[in-house]
Amino acid sequence: MAQHTLARASSVENILARHSGAGRDHLIPLLQEIQEAEGFLSRVALRLVAAHLHLPESKVYGVATFYNQFRFQARGSFPIAVCRGTACHVKGSASVLAALERELRIAAGGTTRDGLFSLEVVACIGACGLAPVIAVGDDYHAGVTPSQVPGIVDRYRRQAQEQGRALEPVAVDAEEMLA
Ligand code: FES
Repeated sequence: MAQHTLARASSVENILARHSGAGRDHLIPLLQEIQEAEGFLSRVALRLVAAHLHLPESKVYGVATFYNQFRFQARGSFPIAVCRGTACHVKGSASVLAALERELRIAAGGTTRDGLFSLEVVACIGACGLAPVIAVGDDYHAGVTPSQVPGIVDRYRRQAQEQGRALEPVAVDAEEMLA
C-alpha cells in the first residue's frame, strides 16, 4: 500500500476510533467528519466506514454519491467554484459552468488529471452584484462569460508553470471508486 494511502487509512481509522459505538444512523456524520479532515472521501475511507458500520461498501458509496456535499477526489491546486445562486443563475452561470467543463475536460465535482484544477458548484458566494461569479481559490472573477473562460484558466496554468508547481496525477473516476 502506498505511503499516502497508509497515512489516509490511519487518519480515517483515528476518526472511526473516536466513534467506536457508532451505528448506521451515523453514516452521514461520519462521512462529513472524514471529508472535513481529508478534503474528500477516498476509496480507502469508504471501505473503512463500511466495515466500521457493518454496511456493504455499495451502500456507503450509494449514500455518499446521493449527496452533492461529498467529493471523491482531492481538490486541485486551483479549486474553481461556480456560483449557482439565483442572481448568477439568471445571468448565465450554467453556460459558464459548461464552458469550464469543456475547457478543463472534467465534470463538476471532478479534478483535472494534472491536479491543477478542481471544479465545483456552490451556493451564493455573497457577491450577487457581480453575477455571474466564479471563484478560483481566493480570487473572485465577476461578470464572467463563457468566452472568457479559456483566458481565465490559462492565467492559472501560466501561474503554475511560473511557480514550477509539481503536478501529480490525482484523478480517480467516481465510478471506479469501488471497482
Ligand atoms: S447568487 Fe452568485 S454571488 Fe450571490
